[in-house]
Amino acid sequence: MLAAVMTSAALTLPAQADALRDQAAEQFQVIPSMLPAVNNNPITKAKIDLGRALFFDPRLSASGVFSCNSCHNLATGGDDNLETSIGHGWQKGPRNSPTVLNSVLNQAQFWDGRAEDLKAQAKGPIQGSVEMANTPEKLLATLQSMPAYDDWFKLAFPGDAAPVTFDNFAKAIEAFEATLLTPAAPFDRWLEGDDNAMTEVQKTGLSLFMEKGCSSCHSGVNFGGHDYYPFGVVERPGSDILPENDKGRFAVTKTADDEYVFRAAPLRNVALTAPYFHSGKVWDLKQAVAVMGSAQLGDELTDDETTAIASFLTALTGELRPVEYPLLPAETATTPRPTA
Ligand code: HEM
Ligand code: HEM
Repeated sequence: MLAAVMTSAALTLPAQADALRDQAAEQFQVIPSMLPAVNNNPITKAKIDLGRALFFDPRLSASGVFSCNSCHNLATGGDDNLETSIGHGWQKGPRNSPTVLNSVLNQAQFWDGRAEDLKAQAKGPIQGSVEMANTPEKLLATLQSMPAYDDWFKLAFPGDAAPVTFDNFAKAIEAFEATLLTPAAPFDRWLEGDDNAMTEVQKTGLSLFMEKGCSSCHSGVNFGGHDYYPFGVVERPGSDILPENDKGRFAVTKTADDEYVFRAAPLRNVALTAPYFHSGKVWDLKQAVAVMGSAQLGDELTDDETTAIASFLTALTGELRPVEYPLLPAETATTPRPTA
């Protein structure tokens, strides 16, 4: 009898595993381990090196305090793990900082998708009054005051007569960010055939994630990052989670239908990036899953279901590659002084 059960289990389990994998393969892709191509910005080592220096340089902010890495700390998952970010003058900004990891694979940037790519995105925080509070002119004056930056821009943009420009600054940052991929997550290894890469609970969570309808919004290579939906399709969360004054994509399109519409958040490395939602009001991943169940699907998930789905989401944590902290050039007499 036992032998018969074992034989039938041996026959059915791999078949079930294959069916789950086939279903998943229709909706998700693995994170590439090679650099992706980006539009209108061929990626070279010189550009990546320059972009890394810029990403870590706090002197690009008016106060000399904030670098991109302040709010997108590459040591802690590419975000700041604060409810909403703190920037210039210790001001608290309106939104939670999304991770820069794998952000090159998003089809648009920001919670409301208002920047079409990382080039366009990088010009925002430099000028944002609650972020780095700088101006393009002062940024360029800062870069031009340090001869090493001049040399690095020349190496990165060899065809340009005067390469230190705001556009090239943004392209170099984009090139560096394109390297911030986290391949080989347990889910990716499982999708590629390693049956043991995910636990049974994680496989149950994946199955629920697809059956319940999470994957109708969170799909593709980044499990999101490519389309827009109302936050609260079925039931709008209270203002403790969805503050009334942030109407999301409405600010971009000025269309009434876009009130409280946001980009389906990419869920890669989500276990590293608490707190959750654009408001950063939810610290617990299981609670975030439960909020999604009721708000987006009208489904009050059971504790077992939220546990399994949250466990599956931890299987989206990929390999974080070490990033070399750059040595930056010293200021000179002409470097603009920090302002409060
Ligand atoms: C959004 C990169 C500086 C806080 C983003 C995104 C990227 C990024 C790629 C979009 C990610 C996504 O949508 O998935 C950078 C770069 C910076 C920089 C390259 C330096 C030039 C900062 C600073 C702060 C900050 C200094 C905090 C003071 C945020 C916040 C968002 C964001 C709150 C979301 C804003 C929204 O959706 O409206 N950043 N960032 N960033 N970043 Fe930064
Ligand atoms: C955000 C999971 C269903 C659209 C999120 C977040 C998680 C999540 C964990 C927060 C990510 C972060 O803050 O970084 C899930 C799960 C679902 C589900 C487990 C199924 C139970 C859906 C559906 C839709 C959707 C069906 C579309 C109708 C969104 C949107 C956001 C989001 C628009 C961003 C919300 C904001 O602006 O803060 N999801 N989701 N989700 N999800 Fe889902």
